[in-house]
Amino acid sequence: MAPNLLLKRTPHTRHDPRAGNIVDAIEAMHGRRSIRAYESRQVPRKLLDDLLWAAVQAPIPPASGNEPWAIVIVQGRERLEEYGARARQYAFEHQPVDRPWEWTTRPGFKVFWGAPSLVLFCARIGNPEAPLDCVRAGQNLVLAAHARGLGSCWVGAPMPWLSEPMIQRELGVPEGFVPAAAITLGYAAEQPSGNPKPRPSVYWAPSSNA
Ligand SMILES: Cc1cc2nc3c(=O)[nH]c(=O)nc-3n(C[C@H](O)[C@H](O)[C@H](O)COP(=O)(O)O)c2cc1C
Repeated sequence: MAPNLLLKRTPHTRHDPRAGNIVDAIEAMHGRRSIRAYESRQVPRKLLDDLLWAAVQAPIPPASGNEPWAIVIVQGRERLEEYGARARQYAFEHQPVDRPWEWTTRPGFKVFWGAPSLVLFCARIGNPEAPLDCVRAGQNLVLAAHARGLGSCWVGAPMPWLSEPMIQRELGVPEGFVPAAAITLGYAAEQPSGNPKPRPSVYWAPSSNA
C-alpha cells in the first residue's frame, strides 16, 4: 500500500471519536501510546463491553477452544490506587536479590497510573496457548480503546502480586484461570508523544527457482 494511503494525518494527532474524528486500524497502531495519567471519570460500561467484544475477535488456534480466557474488570480509581500500592509493596518484598526491580522504589511510579478501570485477561490453566491468546486479545483491546478515544497502559508491574492465589480470589478471578495480561483503561489526561519505532529491518526470502 502506498505510504500516502496509510496515514492521512500525523500519527500522534489527538482524536475525538465523539467529534466524528475516526481512526482507522493503521492510524490506531501508529497513534496509540501508553497513558500514565487519567481523568477521574469512569469509562461507560457499554463502551467497555464493546471494546472487550472487539478484543476477543483476536485469532486463536482451534486447540484453544472458544474461551481460553476469563476477563476480569476492576472498577474504581481509589480501589485501584490501593491495589497498586499493595502490588508495589509485594513486588518490593519479592524482587530477585541479584536483579532488583528499580521501579519498586522509583518516586512517582504508580502501578495503575490513576486509571479508573483495569482489565485482566486471565489464561485458562492447562492450555499452553492461553497466555498467548490473552496477549493477542490484549493488543486488540489497546488498539480498540485508542480508536474509541480512551487511553490505556499495558502493565507488567502488578503481575507478581496477581500471581498470588489469595489475590486472585479477592479480585474474583474464576477458578482454573490465572492473570496473564493487565491493562489500565480510562480517559487520558496527558498526550505523550512517546517513542514511535522506526521501520523494522526486513529480510526478504530469496526467490525460489522452483
Ligand atoms: C508486557 C508489558 C508490560 C508493561 N509494563 C508496564 C508497567 O508495568 N508500567 C508502565 O508504565 N508501562 C508498562 N508497559 C508499557 C511500556 O513501557 C510501553 O509500551 C513502552 O514504553 C512503549 O511506549 P508506547 O506504549 O507509548 O509505545 C508495559 C508494556 C508491555 C507490553
